[in-house]
Amino acid sequence: MISLCNVSTVFADHGKDPITAVDDVSLEVPRGSIQGIIGFSGAGKSTLLRNINLLERPTRGQVLIDGTDLTQLNEEALRQARHQIGMIFQGFNLVNNLTVEQNVELSLKFSGVKASAPRRARAAEALEIVELADKAAAYPAQLSGGQKQRVAIARALATRPQVLLCDEPTSALDPFTTATVLQYLADINRELGITVVVVTHEMEVIKALTDHVAVMESGRIVERFAAHQLHDPAFSPSTSIGQYLVSDGIRIDRGAPPLDTLPSGLESSDEPVAVAGGRA
Ligand SMILES: Nc1ncnc2c1ncn2[C@@H]1O[C@H](COP(=O)(O)OP(=O)(O)OP(=O)(O)O)[C@@H](O)[C@H]1O
Ligand SMILES: [Mg+2]
Repeated sequence: MISLCNVSTVFADHGKDPITAVDDVSLEVPRGSIQGIIGFSGAGKSTLLRNINLLERPTRGQVLIDGTDLTQLNEEALRQARHQIGMIFQGFNLVNNLTVEQNVELSLKFSGVKASAPRRARAAEALEIVELADKAAAYPAQLSGGQKQRVAIARALATRPQVLLCDEPTSALDPFTTATVLQYLADINRELGITVVVVTHEMEVIKALTDHVAVMESGRIVERFAAHQLHDPAFSPSTSIGQYLVSDGIRIDRGAPPLDTLPSGLESSDEPVAVAGGRA
């Protein structure tokens, strides 16, 4: 379905050293599957995702969707091909002075649906899928973060895409709302057969949603594995970055606590000291 062949993206801003954001990446995403891309900030995840719909045209390499190389298409053919690729952006990217319904309709306008009646019908259908039909007339400022993210999903779905690209779809959400949004994505994948590529730095998202995982570091895919392996206690990624990403929790060194913050009778020592209700 999606085939990236030796894709590189170099940003060469005037007077600055060029940055290779994506470095010779090849990746196959089978039809109907959910591909996760994980890595630290600056690894090149968003750039790679934007390479798939040529929102960021790669400097080198091919991007094939269903066998068609998008990099070879003229502007009009590319516009047509993009109809089958929806995108959910990092942050919500909603237009604040348009209502929810108008935001969803906007993507249909851009994709060339000229008549307003079919635009309205398809916007309503997409809002139905994310259970936000009752918010059609609301403005983004009147919505919660999770609702905004669902509008972004509806907007991406309105053009009835075959491929859905999601950039950190849940990074601004609390765990409960994250679960809701991930469930929508899983449902869309299963019921509509949409191929999904999801970029995240959260291993929980990878575990819950994806079939295949690619780990990115410094523009390269350094490791891949099947997501179900994450549920095997004996599984350990082969790269140190992969291992770090699957290790749970954040570990920080706060040094020895100052004496006057300890409950009386306890002194700082090299041995961990159990403090009721606090850290060890
Ligand atoms: N338009 C641009 N011009 C110049 N450099 C860019 C541009 N977009 C991205 N970069 C650089 O490319 C590298 C990869 O950026 P990218 O946004 O793809 O990372 P990311 O993995 O999505 O990070 P994050 O997790 O923080 O979103 C970074 O070093 C970034 O500074
Ligand atoms: Mg990013």
